[in-house]
Amino acid sequence: MCWALAVALLGTLLLLLLLALRSRLPSEPPLDRGFVPWLGHAVEFGKDAASFLSKMKQKHGDIFTIQVAGKFITILLDPHSYDSMLWESSCQLDFSKYAHLLMDRMFDVKLPDYDPNKEKVMLRSALQNKNLLSLTKAMFFNLQTLLLSDPSNLSRQWTDKGLFNLSYGIMLRAGYLTLYGNEEENYNDPSCQDKDRAHSAEVYNAFYKLDQLLMRAARSMLTAAEKKEAASLKGHLWKLLSVKRLNSKANKSLWLESYKQHLEELGVDEDMQPRAMLMQLWATQGNAGPAVFWLLLFLLKHPAAMAAVQSELEKVIRDRGQTMKQMQGISQEMLDSTPVFDSVLNETLRLTAAPFISREVLADMQLKLADGRKFSLRKEDRLCLFPYLSPQMDSEIYEEPEKFKYDRFLNADNTERRDFYKGGERLKYYNMPWGAGINTCIGKFHAVNSIKQFVFILLTNFDLELKDPEARIPGFDKGRYGFGMLQPENDIMIQYKLKD
Ligand code: HEM
Repeated sequence: MCWALAVALLGTLLLLLLLALRSRLPSEPPLDRGFVPWLGHAVEFGKDAASFLSKMKQKHGDIFTIQVAGKFITILLDPHSYDSMLWESSCQLDFSKYAHLLMDRMFDVKLPDYDPNKEKVMLRSALQNKNLLSLTKAMFFNLQTLLLSDPSNLSRQWTDKGLFNLSYGIMLRAGYLTLYGNEEENYNDPSCQDKDRAHSAEVYNAFYKLDQLLMRAARSMLTAAEKKEAASLKGHLWKLLSVKRLNSKANKSLWLESYKQHLEELGVDEDMQPRAMLMQLWATQGNAGPAVFWLLLFLLKHPAAMAAVQSELEKVIRDRGQTMKQMQGISQEMLDSTPVFDSVLNETLRLTAAPFISREVLADMQLKLADGRKFSLRKEDRLCLFPYLSPQMDSEIYEEPEKFKYDRFLNADNTERRDFYKGGERLKYYNMPWGAGINTCIGKFHAVNSIKQFVFILLTNFDLELKDPEARIPGFDKGRYGFGMLQPENDIMIQYKLKD
């Protein structure tokens, strides 16, 4: 026992020594280990990755390697070169190893080995094409249940509410009901609607609290008290998502049925299944609500943008001889007829979506950049893109990149603008909120339809104002860089009432 301990200690010391000694080879990207042994830049990186990486970019250029908690991460920030990573074979650059580590740290999920590509193909088909139509329809009814059948929303007096709370709450609850099913079959039955409202609120309230802890859980930085709180919230959510509860639901989506079948085929037991379901709740519902928050806030702060969206919306409805009140759904054709809204959404996501696209280097390899430079990467390092810095916030690509310009992605003839340049060369990747390559979001079309439906129902049925028109757009919760949509540091109060 003593020997084993001594050998383990010696091994750890040797590893630390090797890490401390690592120096850059001429063929490798610039190396910045930071001053703290082993930890390297972990603290700065975790606190505010965007500021830290832009400082590193100024110092080293658009490719460099940093040390973060014992791991060496090469950051690539030249969007012309992103294809060299995105389409590299999974024998060299692996996506799932790091994803499995996060699943365990954040959700206590341990799954047997499986082919992530096969899983992706199956789940993608449940969210797209003909299945998208039924999801869009279900989302419409669930949004109505939460927005228009809820007596607390039907007042013609102003009601105060936090915009983030409203956006995230309604989107997560409606999205959850759409994918995981309703309490009973009949959407229009008031008692079923009551139950759906109560149950989805219980899920949201627990999920929201857990969401505030997840980023630090991913970095293994929770305090003992936070760990306890996270465990209790997860326990509560696992009960709400238990096999028995989910089996008893009506109107379950094909996505849920397919995922459940997939878990069963893998031999995942009944205790692990709710954990995987909670992880999927985060993956499928964690981004759309925050996106709606920023979009509505930008519209409220930019009256010209709000007027353009409102008038496009009125025209879409009027041209089809309808009123929103008569509508039993919003057709795909209508959802696809909103170029101004699409530009607003693209611009919102450009400013507020900040995922990392990350791969483990499985074997020593060479990375060839678009300008012909070649760099060696070492086995067991990580390669990471951060599209938020470039292309999304790159002043060479976008004029005044920090400003919201609602028509940035619109041509003069109202078609989508897709030509953006860096260094005189047209870019293939100029906005990457949905990821890219094998990391592309499989729920993109459902997400876009859901966001549009929520905003359309809200703007056509309610008057909406900032409580304080001078309120400043809040800063970002900086610990969330790298994990998808950003969230605000603080909420913004609005008032809303049913239109006359
Ligand atoms: C504004 C809303 C959304 C944004 C910005 C977004 C963005 C992303 C991004 C960047 C990824 C890649 C993450 C990575 O590989 O590390 C991703 C993955 C994923 N997204 Fe979305 N997403 C959104 C909404 C949704 C919705 C509504 C669904 C499903 C209903 C969904 C389902 C998924 C799933 C299942 C994955 C993981 C795919 C995989 O296994 O690789 N997303 N999303």
